Amino acid sequence: MKHLYDVIIVGAGLAGLRAAVEIGKDAKVAVLTKVFATRSHSGAAQGGIGAALGNEEEDHCEWHMFDTVKGSDYLGDQDAIEILANDAPRAIYELENLGVPFNRTPEGKIAQRAFGGHTRKFGEAPVKRACYAATRTGRVILDTLWEQSLRRGIEFFDEFQMLSLIVEEGQCCGVVAYELSTGKLHVFQSKAVLMATGGAGKIYKTTSNAFASTGDGMAMAYRAGAPLEDMEFVQFHPTGIYKLGILISEAARGEGGILLNNEGERFMERYAPVIKDLAPRDMISRCMLEEMRAGRGIDGKDYFHLDLTHLGEEVIDKKLAEITSFARTYAGVDPIKEPIPVQPTCHYMMGGIATDADGRVIVDEKNTAYAGLYAAGECACVSVHGANRLGCNALLDTLVFGRRAGIAIKAFVPSAGRPKLPARPETKDADTIKALMNSSGKESSGPIRAELQESMMENVSVFRQKDSLNTALKKITQLKKRYQHLAIQDKGSCFNRDLLDAIELGHLLDLAEVITRSAINREESRGAHSREDFPQRDDQKFLVHTMARYDAVKGPQIFTKPVTITQFEPKERKY
Ligand code: FUM
Repeated sequence: MKHLYDVIIVGAGLAGLRAAVEIGKDAKVAVLTKVFATRSHSGAAQGGIGAALGNEEEDHCEWHMFDTVKGSDYLGDQDAIEILANDAPRAIYELENLGVPFNRTPEGKIAQRAFGGHTRKFGEAPVKRACYAATRTGRVILDTLWEQSLRRGIEFFDEFQMLSLIVEEGQCCGVVAYELSTGKLHVFQSKAVLMATGGAGKIYKTTSNAFASTGDGMAMAYRAGAPLEDMEFVQFHPTGIYKLGILISEAARGEGGILLNNEGERFMERYAPVIKDLAPRDMISRCMLEEMRAGRGIDGKDYFHLDLTHLGEEVIDKKLAEITSFARTYAGVDPIKEPIPVQPTCHYMMGGIATDADGRVIVDEKNTAYAGLYAAGECACVSVHGANRLGCNALLDTLVFGRRAGIAIKAFVPSAGRPKLPARPETKDADTIKALMNSSGKESSGPIRAELQESMMENVSVFRQKDSLNTALKKITQLKKRYQHLAIQDKGSCFNRDLLDAIELGHLLDLAEVITRSAINREESRGAHSREDFPQRDDQKFLVHTMARYDAVKGPQIFTKPVTITQFEPKERKY
């Protein structure tokens, strides 16, 4: 089946919907999502969205910018970070006007709370910068933007899995997608495609990410020739529920919660004397592993206690509602009376499809645009997070750069020609599906995915070194070979989860290879990339972005791109 639109947005999370709202009725827009739109993973975002409103105490956009640059371990592009920080207050008031129900101060202003790495006066002490709606901030913004998209006549194709980008004469001109309920292939022709497909946490065994976070958009753009940037930087959030990885928001520490080791010690006081439990995530995750190695995990195991008991029932119930119910349901503990067992969990990809600050996908170090292709949100790398993202900057990124991508697309569409589609652009995907369905191979997705996730967790997580990275790469190569022998047991065409798992697994394998190769290449420690064999940051050699280009035969081809530094020269990062 064929469809004709001006713009296709793939992904119905906050970045995709914010772009859709921006384009509105100015172009014919369709949003494709592999889940039901409001099930997008943005809805799981808990703690808050950062903006220097100064509603609770003095704050400034410049302080926000500085914290983000320092948090990124100086790898973030400062021109983009300046846009992020300066545009944040406008983005929040816009949400307020659209109907987002933020928590309020007693005087009726938008309430704000502290979050990791956000400080006043360039690092003096934590500052209250995160605007929030209890611990369901992503949920309320997602619902609001979805309603606003419907008001503007945006069409939704829910439960459509995108399979590939259509590229002709060097211009992206649509996508091929698979309809989950029928198994039919659809061709969507458009002048512009915006990838807003979110993250890829499912590469790892322990993750806070939804099942759908399999990096589809990143993998498809990569295969279509768009380089992936800074993929070695994978964020581990310090407080996932032990063994499950389900997120206990940093808001818990923002409201005064503390991390304790098996001696009952608030160990972050030793590592980050100024901001303690509100140090950035890369640092706290590393400290937790170091405590573990020193035998100070709870019961000598690989977890710690997040203690909220001193906060009192009212704060916990009113400001941290969701996490209270998560702790009760999944960890079997009542945070009002007892600590929550936590461990680092894979949370966020700092890297992604390389873009400029207007969402245009770029193909080289000179920022040459990929005609017709845009990306925003977690699947993109602008780059505002560099080597480590600060909490509550992810939602902000989706809104600021989702809007900017929408503005750029709106300007592009009227002047863009509509290249003729290749004859039957769905043929390649149809052949791939047919081959999978008819395969007599002996492999299935589940075991390959589990082995990939175990290996990435073991070898490419918080700490890395040459040997562990090479072990992971060898494993990925073996698993890619086994992937060639996948067979699909379910021969049906209605919600064929077996087939979808196989498609997603192909994406996970490609991205795991890029992460690992990029990590091997970066022989230094910076932000979330901590090489035990190269423990120092090396600005002489590695103050550059890693770019990985797809090569079907040789694997990822690495090149570099300069980092933009404007106001803040790299310094030692102390908290
Ligand atoms: O901890 C959290 O609520 C997560 C927020 C974020 O990743 O920005």
